[in-house]
This record gives sequence, structure tokens and C-alpha cells, in this order.
Amino acid sequence: MPDKDNIAYQKCINPACGAEFDCGQTLFKCPDCGELLDVVYNWDKIDVPDTLSGFGRRWASRDNRLDFSGVWRFRELLNFCPDQSKVSIGEGQTILQQNDDLGKALGMADGSLYLQYEGLNPSGSFKDNGMTAAFSHAMMVGAKSSACASTGNTSASMALYAHSCGLKCTVFIGSGRIAFGKLSQAMDYGGHTIQIMGDFDDCMKQVQDVCSRLGIYLVNSLNPFRLEGQKTIMLRIIEQLGWQVPDWIVVPGGNLGNSSAFGKAFLELKQLGLIDRIPKLAVINASGASTLTDLVNDKQLRWNDGNVDQSIIDDYYADLTARNFSPHTCASAIEISRPVNLKKCLRALDICNGVVLAVTDEEIVDAKAQVGMHGLGCEPASAASIAGLKHLLADGTIAAGEKVACVLTGHALKDPNVTVNYHKEKQGPFSNPPVEVANDLEQIIKLIKA
Ligand code: F0G
Repeated sequence: MPDKDNIAYQKCINPACGAEFDCGQTLFKCPDCGELLDVVYNWDKIDVPDTLSGFGRRWASRDNRLDFSGVWRFRELLNFCPDQSKVSIGEGQTILQQNDDLGKALGMADGSLYLQYEGLNPSGSFKDNGMTAAFSHAMMVGAKSSACASTGNTSASMALYAHSCGLKCTVFIGSGRIAFGKLSQAMDYGGHTIQIMGDFDDCMKQVQDVCSRLGIYLVNSLNPFRLEGQKTIMLRIIEQLGWQVPDWIVVPGGNLGNSSAFGKAFLELKQLGLIDRIPKLAVINASGASTLTDLVNDKQLRWNDGNVDQSIIDDYYADLTARNFSPHTCASAIEISRPVNLKKCLRALDICNGVVLAVTDEEIVDAKAQVGMHGLGCEPASAASIAGLKHLLADGTIAAGEKVACVLTGHALKDPNVTVNYHKEKQGPFSNPPVEVANDLEQIIKLIKA
């Protein structure tokens, strides 16, 4: 039992258990019942600014490393460790781009579509928001070695942060299941990279066993401290909208850490009286890795005040095993069929009155090309959010004039193979292939669109 005077503690999300633990403990799953853990705060012991704009003022003191960080600028809202153990390499300097051009192409009104480009983080994906928090906790508990399973971005981010604070790090990746941009980062940043003959779900299982056997610090999104950092993506969206809440957040769903963190963020902000309403949440799967969509839309799985019907999940996974199913999508980042944060995501859907759906690879690569053509670009998994938005506009779930923030989770250069393939092989309506020509001025001039 944690000391009741603590500012923060860990708590099992299973209401039938509800066990509590000190933040100084490194657990990742409830030792009593095996469920996920949350970080919970005694808000009356924390000096939270009265209004969100209080956080914005910190932009003025960018020489303070914690104020400069787009995560720790909001530190009272993730107050689980002392300042001296906080690790930061300048994460969270990301932008919310109002994109009327793309909005128009999707049939939306001006001022409706916003793209939160998390590719601008130091390792090029949203993961850095979480990793700064996970490694701060790792420093607080004196960890020496870290590990993760990854479809690529987690490994790149972990390797960068581990290096920055002197921890060893080991990456587990599914053989052939990782985009080259990400693999190159993990190797370049000094991650000890182990390729397992299997998929992400196999790696996720192995890394948990390895970490508990060898006492290694796990930085996958099972880690509740990591998710605390990812809450700030929502804070920065609200900040860039002049501290207004959008109508919708649309996010791709893989291991479901982001969606889980976003729901928790909005619930806490509402409870603290810092926002007056909670936006709706849309989580978008790839159709080749659609566990969440299948469970929520077909099997009617719900949070149900924490009393999730485990038998529905068990039956679904038993069927995957019986069919020897392995997920497949060109959006390799979300090629996951046993998402570890499933229950927290169900809770987020409940908090945010959310919806889920799956989009095809064809829809993903088309949407990715449109994002590239109209904006800052993104990697395939990120474009699932735009592909999903198209469905939600078409079926009237989202109205043309509603304010929508789509999270572009990773940088356009993470997976150049998918991009080049789409454009060069003329796969779709937005393909923009290079044109070959003889080394001859007249012939070249004929090709120029002046
Ligand atoms: N988008 C990108 C670019 C990702 O890398 C991931 C997850 C997701 C979306 C899904 O986010 O898990 O919070 O639902 N990538 C992990 C990895 C699994 O290992 O890099 P989620």
C-alpha cells in the first residue's frame, strides 16, 4: 500500500482488485490480478495552475529545460517524479497544422481539419512523448537496462532516450516486420537489436518474460508512466487551438497506448475543471490488424465500468491462435493483433463516447499520399487517421463543420519504401511517379510544366 501522503501512486484498473502501489515500484502489471496499472494523483497535493493558459506562459522561459519540453511544460499533470530525475531531449516541439487544403479535398469546411504532426519529435514519432516520461521513472527507480518490443518507432525512441541517460537498451523486433527508417535509427542510436522469427505480438510476449526474469526496465506502453507523457499530445492540441477543445480526435490504433492516454488526459482535465467538455475519439485500425474493431463493433465488447467481459477477449484470441493468425498491413507500425492496452482503450472510448473502425491498406496509402500532397507528410500508420476520417465523414458520424484533430503519429521519412512503391508503381489516384527522359535538353523542356 502506498503512503496516502504521496502525490502519485499506481493503481490497478480492475475495479474488483483496485490494488495500489508506490510509484517507486517497477511493476507494469498488477502483481495481484495481472491487470494494467494506472498512475493516479492526489490532486489536492499538487499546485495545478487554475487555467490551462498558465502552462502556455512557460514558452517564455525556454532556457529552462523542463519548460522547453513539450511534455514537462505540463509537469503538474504528470507529477510522479522529482525534477532531478526528469530526462528530456527537447521532445514535444510539435505543431498543429490547420489544413484547409486537405480538408477541402475531404469535403470539410474551412477551419475544420487540423493535423497534429508528431513526426517533429527528436526520433520522428509520438513515442518520444512517452519515452521521456518512462525514462524519467527509470532514473527515479535507478534502472540500469531497458528493453522493448517494437514495430519500429518505440525502438528508435527507446534507443535515443536510453543513450541520453546512460541506460543499456535491447530491442525486440519481428524479423522483416520493421520499416527501414526505424531499424536504421535503432542501430544508429546504439540499441542492441534482436530480430525474432515472429511478429510483434510474439516479441511483446518474449520481452515481458525477459524483463521480469532479468529485472530489466520495460518501456512498452504497458508501462503506465510512459502513457503519462503521451497525455501531453492532447494538451498541445488544445493549446494550439487557443485552449479550446476540438470536437473530435482521430488516432491510429496499434497497441492502443495513445488512445488510452488520450482518454485519461481528458478525464483528468475535466475532473480538474480545466476543460468544460470532452471531445469524441475515433480509433482507426488497419483491416489486416483489426482486433479492436472486431471486438467493439462485432462482439460489442465494452468497458462496462471496468467489468470487461474477459471471455469475449479469450474466445477471440483463441480463434486467432487456432487459425495461426498473424496480422498483415503495409502500415507496419500498427501490425498488432493482441494490443496490450485493450482495456484502457475501452475505457477511453467510454470516456470520449468514441468510435472505432478499420481501413484497408489501399485506403491508407491513398490517404498518405494526400497528406503528403497537402501538408507535412506522414508514415503509413499515421495516414490511417485520415483514411478513417473519410469514412466517418461519409457515414455522417462527423459533420463537415466539426473541428477535427487527426494525430499524425510518425514522420514521412520513416518508411520510404511504401511511399516510393506507391508513387513509382502508380498504385493509386494520387500517385506521382518520376518521369524518365534522355539526357537531351529539348526532350527535357517538353516535359516541364512551366
Ligand atoms: N502510429 C505509429 C507511427 C506507431 O509507431 C504506432 C505504434 C502507432 C501509430 C500505434 O500507436 O500503439 O499507441 O496504438 N508503434 C509501436 C512501436 C507499436 O513499436 O513502435 P498505439
